[in-house]
Amino acid sequence: MIDIIVGARPNFMKVAPIISELEKRKAGGGRLRYRLVHTGQHYDARMSDDFFEQLGIPHPDVNLEVGSGTQAEQTGAIMTRYERLVMEKPGSLCLVVGDVTSSMACAITAQKLGVPVAHVEAGIRSGDWGMPEEINRIVTDAISDWFFTTSATANENLIKTGVSEDRMFFVGNTMIDTLLANMERLRRPRFWDRLGLQPGGYFVLTLHRPSNVDQGRQFAQLLRAISEGIRGLPAVFPVHPRTRKTLDALGFDAPGIHLVDPQPYLEFNYLVRHAKAVITDSGGVTEETTVMGIPCMTLRDSTERPETVTTGTNEILGVDPNAIRAALDRLFSHGWKKGGIPEKWDGRTGERIVAVLESLLPNDA
Ligand code: UD1
Repeated sequence: MIDIIVGARPNFMKVAPIISELEKRKAGGGRLRYRLVHTGQHYDARMSDDFFEQLGIPHPDVNLEVGSGTQAEQTGAIMTRYERLVMEKPGSLCLVVGDVTSSMACAITAQKLGVPVAHVEAGIRSGDWGMPEEINRIVTDAISDWFFTTSATANENLIKTGVSEDRMFFVGNTMIDTLLANMERLRRPRFWDRLGLQPGGYFVLTLHRPSNVDQGRQFAQLLRAISEGIRGLPAVFPVHPRTRKTLDALGFDAPGIHLVDPQPYLEFNYLVRHAKAVITDSGGVTEETTVMGIPCMTLRDSTERPETVTTGTNEILGVDPNAIRAALDRLFSHGWKKGGIPEKWDGRTGERIVAVLESLLPNDA
């Protein structure tokens, strides 16, 4: 039995294709079984339940209900509760995805109890240790047995740390499996008409990195630059709970920027698909804009997903308000690079991963 771990919003779209492939094979007599473990890192309906429902992910078998806390509090709570579960009933493999705290905490716990770990989206690196996700990636990769990667660069990064090639599988991107599978189901959010949105006539904004949103003054400057640069077009800003706290403290007011609640998967990607451009500090969103061919401006100094820049539509602008104004000017005057689709981002990654798992776990039932 494989433990599949989810904890926070970006995990849900990454496990959906793996689970659906496992279910498909099970229906056809396949041997692999899984237990879906939700750590409870994200617990709001809008950050969690909506995604399960829209993506057809089964109800978790276990919810560790850890909730919010500091990095150490969350890590500690997840490890303690997951350890209890594994000690009662160990799986044969712990499968973690992405770079959230839940992934790292469960990987450490499993490995210390002698349960092998597979990491999906392994090997990506931003080089920025100021982001908790980078620490989570490094730690998780340091103790994983098997590595499923989204790019050749990720394989190269792993080789540099001494991982042997027979433990690495360049399979592509499960988040893109989910996007391609749902492209025709994407749906307009209810506020579309109220905000007067037109295809190609608005921006989508997402910001939630602590480095961008936790310092009120810097965040206000970023928002002012965006508000001036969008030249009267609306910008829709689905607000993450972390960001909401800072905005409330700021007494938010930036003309043209419309705050909305965190959006469910189908509504969020509908917004992205029809936007003039996306301004973000998320990593996953830059992958989705790349596949949809939508201009993307990243307000960070680095990316762990370089293929979204070299192949895709993403540009790294940093957090200087002047650079943001200049990029928006460029978008209006010259348009944006067109971009292509990275290798193996073809909607079949879940299949490849499960095929590998079957060969790695020959005796599992
Ligand atoms: C986490 C991930 C990040 C991912 C993001 C997506 C880590 C280190 N970071 O960051 O990689 O991009 O999720 O959303 O794992 N909160 C709620 N309701 C919830 C969840 C969180 O109100 O359902 C609040 C918490 O109280 C906390 C804040 O949001 O104040 C941050 O939550 P947390 O899970 O610690 O990290 P994220 O910033 O969401």
